[in-house]
Amino acid sequence: MSLLITGGSGYIGSHTVVELFTVGQDVVVVDNLANSSTKSLERIEQITGKKPIFIEADICDKAAMENLFTSHDISAVIHFAGLKAVGESTQQPLSYYHNNVAGTVTLLEVMAKFNVKKLVFSSSATVYGDKNESPLVETMPTSATNPYGQTKLMVESILFDLAKSDPQWSIISLRYFNPIGAHKSGLIGENPNGIPNNLLPFVSQVAVGRLAALNVFGDDYDTVDGTGVRDYIHVVDLAKAHVQAVNALADLSGCTAINIGTGNGTSVLQIVDKFKEVSGADIPFNIRERRPGDIATVFAEAKLAQQLLGWQAELGLDEMISDTWRWQSNNPNGFE
Ligand code: NAD
Ligand code: UD1
Repeated sequence: MSLLITGGSGYIGSHTVVELFTVGQDVVVVDNLANSSTKSLERIEQITGKKPIFIEADICDKAAMENLFTSHDISAVIHFAGLKAVGESTQQPLSYYHNNVAGTVTLLEVMAKFNVKKLVFSSSATVYGDKNESPLVETMPTSATNPYGQTKLMVESILFDLAKSDPQWSIISLRYFNPIGAHKSGLIGENPNGIPNNLLPFVSQVAVGRLAALNVFGDDYDTVDGTGVRDYIHVVDLAKAHVQAVNALADLSGCTAINIGTGNGTSVLQIVDKFKEVSGADIPFNIRERRPGDIATVFAEAKLAQQLLGWQAELGLDEMISDTWRWQSNNPNGFE
C-alpha cells in the first residue's frame, strides 16, 4: 500500500516524502508542476536512494485522479497540492477557489469512490484570522482576511461536514505556522518563483546577493523590537508531523484540526540578526510601512499536537536558519 502525496514535488511535500521514505513508507506523488519541478524528486533520490513514483496530473482532473486510484493501491492521502500566494489570491480569486476548493472536492469524491477515507490536509494558521490573541488555540473562532485564507477555511468546513456525514472518514487538518528551513543535505528547499513574498526566502536572497535589501514591514508594532513576530517552524519538523499524523489516522475518527508550530515567537529583526550571524553575510534593510493584512504577533499553542500525535518541534532557530542558508548558498538559483 502507498500513501498518495498531492503536491509532493513542492517545498513541504518533498521534505515529507524524504521523512516517509526514512520510515519505510511507499509513496505516489501527484503534482501538476504549477509551482515545482521534477528536480526535487531527483534530489529526493539523492538523499534517500529512492525515487517516488510520480504522476504529472492536476487534482482537478477527475479522470486522471480516478486512473491513479485504479492503478495504485492507496491507503491514505496527504494533500499538499494548492496555490499559496496571498497577494496573488486577491488578484486571481477564481484560480484559488478552483485549485484549492474545487480541486479538493474532486480529490475527496475520488477518494470516496475508491473507499480511501483517510486524509491529512495542509491548512494554515491563517484560519485564525486577525482577531484572536496568541497563543492561538485550535478551539478559537476562525475567519479569513483574503481569498487564500478563505480557501483553507472553506476546505476545513468541507472536511468537518464530510467527517460528520460518514464515520468511516478519518481526517487531520494540520494548521501550519510559518514553515522555513531546508533538509540538512542542502539538496532540497524552498524555491519561490519571482520575488519572494515571505520573509525567509527574501532574506536569504538578500544574503546571497540576488536582492539588494530587505523591506521590513513596520517597526511600530507592540512587540519586542516593534517588528512582526511569528512562530517559525523547521520544515523537517513539519514533515515529521505528517508522518505522525498519518499514523494517528488509524485511531482518530472525524476531522481534527491541529496546530503545527513551536509555540515560540521570533521578530523580523531577530531573524535578520540570526541570519547575519549564521551566514556571515550582510543583510541591508529598510524600514517600510506596515504590510496591509499583517498582524503584530502570531504564535501557536502547540499542546494538542503533542497529545494527539506525540509530536513536538525539535529543531530551533539556529538549525532553521543554517539549513536555509546551506540550501540557498548551494543553490543560489533554486533547482535551476
Ligand atoms: P508549494 O507550492 O511548494 O507546493 C504545492 C505543490 O502543489 C506544488 O508542487 C504545485 O505544483 C502543486 N499544485 C498546485 N496546484 C495543483 C493542482 N491543482 N494539482 C496538482 N498539483 C498542484 O507549496 P508548499 O509551501 O509546499 O505548501 C504546501 C501546502 O501547504 C499548500 O497547500 C499550502 O497552502 C500549505 N501551507 C503552506 C505554508 C507555507 O508557508 N509554505 C503555510 C501554511 C500552509
Ligand atoms: C504569510 C501570509 C499567510 C500565509 C503565510 C505562509 C500574509 C498577510 N500572510 O504569513 O496567510 O499562511 O505567509 O505562506 O501575507 N516581512 C517583512 N518583509 C518581507 C516579508 C515579510 O518584514 O519582505 C515580515 C511580515 O510583515 C511578518 C513576517 O515578516 O511580520 C513574516 O512574514 P511572512 O513570511 O510573509 O509570513 P506571514 O505574514 O506570517
